[in-house]
Amino acid sequence: MNIDQAIQERRSIRGFQDKPVPQALLEEVIALANRAPSSMNTQPWHLHVLTGEPLEQVRKGNTERMLGGVTPTRDIEDYAAYEGEHRQRQIEIAIQLFEAMGIERHDAERRQDWVMRGFRQFDAPVSIVVCFDRSLLNNTIAHFDTGAMTYGLVLAAWARGLGAVINGQGIMQSPVVREVANIAEDQVILTCVALGWPDDGFVANDVVSRRRPVENVTKFLGFDG
Ligand SMILES: Cc1cc2nc3c(=O)[nH]c(=O)nc-3n(C[C@H](O)[C@H](O)[C@H](O)COP(=O)(O)O)c2cc1C
Repeated sequence: MNIDQAIQERRSIRGFQDKPVPQALLEEVIALANRAPSSMNTQPWHLHVLTGEPLEQVRKGNTERMLGGVTPTRDIEDYAAYEGEHRQRQIEIAIQLFEAMGIERHDAERRQDWVMRGFRQFDAPVSIVVCFDRSLLNNTIAHFDTGAMTYGLVLAAWARGLGAVINGQGIMQSPVVREVANIAEDQVILTCVALGWPDDGFVANDVVSRRRPVENVTKFLGFDG
């Protein structure tokens, strides 16, 4: 698969086969992601790759605390409440996903079930917890660097037939993740990536999110035409 195809065809995968992912393959993917550019070559990222029992513990702790009404505790808040065009795009992908899954607007039970799937990281066989050095938390661009690495990771995975969804839901209760994965306090937990072999029968995996046309996101200056 060439890079254009990987970029074009990648989409978030939220349904996985119950099949392990070999550690060697993950090492290959991470070695590629690790080639990401970073500000001043700081390479601020750290990855914690969970499967099996530790991942089950994270899922359980995250889910129980969310159901128990524990206020989500993240090192980095990922949203307040989006408004305007951002809110519209958020709604648009939710509609696409719910339509694909046949979840009706007023079906509170199935909507809740979908949210709970997110807290379980969509039952993926692997979760990669993405962190960066806490010393770079303020007044640096470490978020950008770590995001660039994460996108490389997802693309490298895709090129190998692996599916992934970058997700904040899986680390909503970050103290659980930190404890289970034994993540040092000098690392900030930024997000996580649920990853595995896509379940081709899971219809939400076919959803292609829309993009604005290039002319709406770009302004060219000084070109002839
Ligand atoms: C930082 C980040 C956090 C995300 N968190 C979630 C999440 O918690 N749950 C989820 O289902 N998708 C999550 N996503 C996936 C986005 O919803 C998805 O990338 C977007 O809708 C575009 O769809 P695509 O990835 O299929 O192109 C997240 C993506 C990013 C980059």
